[in-house]
Amino acid sequence: PVLVVDYGAQYAQLIARRVREARVYSEIVPHSMPVEEMMRRNPAAIILSGGPSSVYEQGAPQVDATLFEQGVPVFGICYGFQAMAAALGGTVSHTGLREFGGTVVDAQPEAGVLFAGLPARQDVWMSHGDCVSAAPAGFTVTAASAGAPVAAFEDVSRGFAGVQFHPEVAHTPYGQRLLEKFLHEVAGIEPVWTMGNVIDDQVAAIRAQVGDAEVICGLSGGVDSAVAAALVHKAVGDQLTCVFVDHGLLRAGEAEQVERDYVAATGIKLKVVDATERFLGALAGVTDPEAKRKIIGREFIRVFEAAAREIATAGDVRFLVQGTLYPDVVESGGGTGTANIKSHHNVGGLPDDLKFDLVEPLRMLFKDEVRALGASLGLPEEMVWRHPFPGPGLAIRIIGEVNRHNLDILRAADLIARQELTASGLDRDVWQFPVVLLADVRSVGVQGDGRTYGHPVVLRPVSSEDAMTADWSRLPYDLIARISTRITNEVREINRVTLDVTSKPPGTIEWE
Ligand code: XMP
Repeated sequence: PVLVVDYGAQYAQLIARRVREARVYSEIVPHSMPVEEMMRRNPAAIILSGGPSSVYEQGAPQVDATLFEQGVPVFGICYGFQAMAAALGGTVSHTGLREFGGTVVDAQPEAGVLFAGLPARQDVWMSHGDCVSAAPAGFTVTAASAGAPVAAFEDVSRGFAGVQFHPEVAHTPYGQRLLEKFLHEVAGIEPVWTMGNVIDDQVAAIRAQVGDAEVICGLSGGVDSAVAAALVHKAVGDQLTCVFVDHGLLRAGEAEQVERDYVAATGIKLKVVDATERFLGALAGVTDPEAKRKIIGREFIRVFEAAAREIATAGDVRFLVQGTLYPDVVESGGGTGTANIKSHHNVGGLPDDLKFDLVEPLRMLFKDEVRALGASLGLPEEMVWRHPFPGPGLAIRIIGEVNRHNLDILRAADLIARQELTASGLDRDVWQFPVVLLADVRSVGVQGDGRTYGHPVVLRPVSSEDAMTADWSRLPYDLIARISTRITNEVREINRVTLDVTSKPPGTIEWE
């Protein structure tokens, strides 16, 4: 792999994704990892990421200089670039010249490999206080900016290069090209990380892990569990049974989509448990968001366990498939060792004391890779590009009591919003589009000639990369208008449609 050394900024995951977009496999490691341990992973190259510190600050993470004696190519970015310069005998200065945001660099495309064939003047994204004022011996300086006399350097003979700016962000238009030049040309790595190869590797790994034991997977209707199950099915066929718990809190058409389209596309054995009565019974009269989550989590486990017992033909089902993704693994301090999954990301939050061994074929993948993998496995478009949907479903989108009446109202409004978004071709521009029913609120309206006293719904379209932060989507007003008109015309109980214009933070994506 290419190891991306994380210096504690939020950029490491982004860098790792960009490396994979260059068709090179990458893993994130903490800066505290000793050089020998990095070397044990047999890295094809090492990328030192940006970080919040100043190289000369007390306690600032340094680069162990022996890293540069391993014969492994190294690329430094921002803080990593400065740390690299300092470790190799260059000079890092605190000039007081700071650059934050869009900056222009003047490059010398003919001077080296990195910028060859690219424009001499380029927009880049900078974020630094210190700068490299003299490159280490043996390095050619290939770019400079107003605040960074050395904005890029390279020593191709040793496979070393670096940039002061952030090549991984979209605000650096040629950043991806620069990364690719480093990976493919300076480090000489073959671009062979493709989803086809991932499928082959994972199928072999799953077979080796599972043998001829029985496996179950809880399908949530979401992308991750669907792709994980499809992969496991490809590996072990009918040893896998999927369980789909319909808790009655799904959106219009969702249960049918899983039962019909998914099974048709994969041929997977599916056990559908209709537990609507049970969940609605347990939720009757409950309005507190955390109480709703607890009840749903508890009921889910009971239903799932019962289904697992029914499925087992000989003894117990030994393996459980989870759609854990790489960001969860990185955030839980993993990447090595055993699974430590956040309950939030599990299908319905299955607890540790469920006695299964986990099969997690997606634990090294990012979301966009999971989608590409799903497409390669032949899953339907609508499934692969489906927006994330919370485990507790519509229950946490009804502010007030969760009952059939409120669920029907919300389902009707939600369906209209989804239909119009799809019709406008904007599905992929939006991360999620919750519609929230304010069942506890009433507002006065006038429809026809009469006064109404109905409920408002809130439209909550958001843009995001990973749901940790989000911004409200600037959907076209005419689209919002169509949604609003249709909802108030077609859903009798709703007489007002509002738009949530709060980013996250301070708001969360969901209202509960
Ligand atoms: P928030 O509302 O915290 O949501 O900004 C972040 C992401 O997580 C989803 N979400 C949940 N998913 N169980 C889940 O499986 C939950 O209890 C839950 N709450 C929020 C939300 O839809 C968004 O994608």
